[in-house]
Amino acid sequence: MQRVFFIAKKRGETMAAQSDEITIPKHVAIIMDGNGRWAKARHLPRVAGHKEGMDNVKRIAIAASHLGIKVLTVYAFSTENWRRPTDEVNYLMGLPVRFFNHYMPDLMAENVRVNVMGYLDELPAQTRQVTLDAMDQTKNNTGMVLNFAFNYGARKEITTAVQQIASAVAEGQLAVDEINEKTVADHLFTASLGKWQDPDLLIRTSGEERLSNFLLWQLAYSEFVFTDVHWPDFTSQDLEKAVQTFSHRQRRYGGLK
Ligand code: IPE
Ligand code: IPE
Ligand code: MG
Repeated sequence: MQRVFFIAKKRGETMAAQSDEITIPKHVAIIMDGNGRWAKARHLPRVAGHKEGMDNVKRIAIAASHLGIKVLTVYAFSTENWRRPTDEVNYLMGLPVRFFNHYMPDLMAENVRVNVMGYLDELPAQTRQVTLDAMDQTKNNTGMVLNFAFNYGARKEITTAVQQIASAVAEGQLAVDEINEKTVADHLFTASLGKWQDPDLLIRTSGEERLSNFLLWQLAYSEFVFTDVHWPDFTSQDLEKAVQTFSHRQRRYGGLK
């Protein structure tokens, strides 16, 4: 990976280690956890945490863009999150509408391209529509990709890929011995991210240290950083700290340095 100098004060942002030479990960993925606990600690309803968490997506996306990150993937709703109480699920389904209504001008100003990956057909019509509109509106932007995982689950993603590949074989378009790792990767949601499809760095907030069905294939050689901070409290400084930690890791991919 290319070595770059931290560009310190872009648009007034302060940087923890201004003159350190560090490696900026191209693709950062975040499991944004702890909205509920953030709210509980403040004697607020859980949805207040989700609202605050939504606002933080915007702040962190801008910070990531300023750091030079190329793709920021954020886990916003899993295929298992339907198990939550109906009121909470309904609120979460409304968040993309609020997010894009509020923040589209900021994303456009930042030249951010929005992508939403997940089983969008299963979403309420309005939620699905705003995600499609956001992707369409930003499709010519050339800056960072803000990639939402929404109604996303990695096991389902891999299962769908297997089904698609099996169909291609059954229809005679593909031979079994032609199936390789690239074939599988090409059938995952992340295929559209091209050379940045695998995260370099995974961050999970709020103290849990598990994947919760996130990007099981793509995270094979990613660096993991866990922090106890609840997602609504996760700041651009926390992001910079995680990037610094990443920068000091030695990635070996099974080989030797
Ligand atoms: C993450 O926060 C947001 C979603 C999973 C939608 P949580 O809602 O999981 O917050 P905790 O883990 O209960 O604190
Ligand atoms: C993972 O968090 C999903 C998202 C952040 C969207 P969860 O809160 O759903 O994960 P578990 O249930 O603690 O594993
Ligand atoms: Mg959680």
